[in-house]
Amino acid sequence: TPLQDCNTFGIVASADTLVRIRSAADVQKFAASPHYQGRQVLVLGGGSNIVLTGDVIHAVVLKMEIPGIAVVGETDSHWIIEAGAGVRWHDLVAWTVEHGYPGLENLALVPGTVGAAPVQNIGAYGVELQDRFHALDAVDLVTHEVFSLNAAQCAFGYRDSIFKHAPAAPAGTPVAKAQGMGLAGRAVITKVRFALSKHWKPELGYLDLQRKQEQEGVAHPTAQQIFDWVVAIRQAKLPDPAVVGNAGSFFKNPTVTEDQCRDIIAREPKIVHYPMPDGSIKLAAGWMIDACGWKGKTLGNAGVYDKQALVLVNRGTAANSVTGGEVMTLAKAIQTSVYERFGIRLEPEPVVV
Ligand code: EPU
Repeated sequence: TPLQDCNTFGIVASADTLVRIRSAADVQKFAASPHYQGRQVLVLGGGSNIVLTGDVIHAVVLKMEIPGIAVVGETDSHWIIEAGAGVRWHDLVAWTVEHGYPGLENLALVPGTVGAAPVQNIGAYGVELQDRFHALDAVDLVTHEVFSLNAAQCAFGYRDSIFKHAPAAPAGTPVAKAQGMGLAGRAVITKVRFALSKHWKPELGYLDLQRKQEQEGVAHPTAQQIFDWVVAIRQAKLPDPAVVGNAGSFFKNPTVTEDQCRDIIAREPKIVHYPMPDGSIKLAAGWMIDACGWKGKTLGNAGVYDKQALVLVNRGTAANSVTGGEVMTLAKAIQTSVYERFGIRLEPEPVVV
């Protein structure tokens, strides 16, 4: 099965087995079938945060297509909204804003699906998924059980969660009992629930949003207005994967200690940096890549987007598309020049398969 249309980079690769999943029961059936038999599994949502290297993916690809959005509960303070793993993330955000359950508007237009969102704890414009997360359901491929995890159990971090880490517990240990283990390749997220406050407050801390608010001269924006602003900001800065293949930010923003930051600022006074609540300092990787002169550059069929240096793009054509190897060659060249100038090692943000 060709995968070029299943990843937003448009990388050419194929899978020898692809299984479409429309319910948790489908995952359980798959786990018990001879198609699985201990093979590696690659769970694919929108394919917007993944770099496929190699021509054939030998893992079984599970294409997540579980539908549905519903209000499934409420407390005095929150609405509980549940969505299927296959729902497009942006469709969920649009639905909640339209139906009067605000809180996700800062995450408008983040590519990908609901089921992929917790894996990397998506974040944008001052809100991370973990700030609005309630719980999720998943199927354990080893025991075939359906289980639920709350936010603490998902071990969310910056673009990180338990779903990005390899299993540590022995095969066969029920997930419920394996404290602290990674769940990559072991658990398949089927449904995600969000807790959205009934006492909504706008989140306008991010500089780009503050500028928009000033331009528009709106003192008390609605969730719909913030949604519209985020859509406009993203469309101006980030390439639409339907037009130019990409996987969003290609590198994480690295964090350094205050001491390290002071050293770097002494050498590079203009470096963009943000103090974090825990005392560490986050550096803008996009700024560093830009400062190394990479913005707009091309290597083979892979390129650096000309409006945001943190995003790598497909400069090939449908017939002669970028390969995962070309993307990784460009990524390594960028890592080397950022390391040589700043002494910082950039870490890829998408999952490299
Ligand atoms: N900058 C440059 N040159 C560039 C790119 C950025 O000088 O080419 C500077 C900007 O001027 C700004 C700073 O770097 O001062 C940060 O840039 P920006 O505000 O665009 O945000 P970012 O740190 O590059 C992060 C997330 C994005 C998210 C935005 C908005 C990561 C890895 N990326 O980007 O998330 O949309 O903030 O919140 O944390 C994604 O994860 O795929 C993604 C797009």
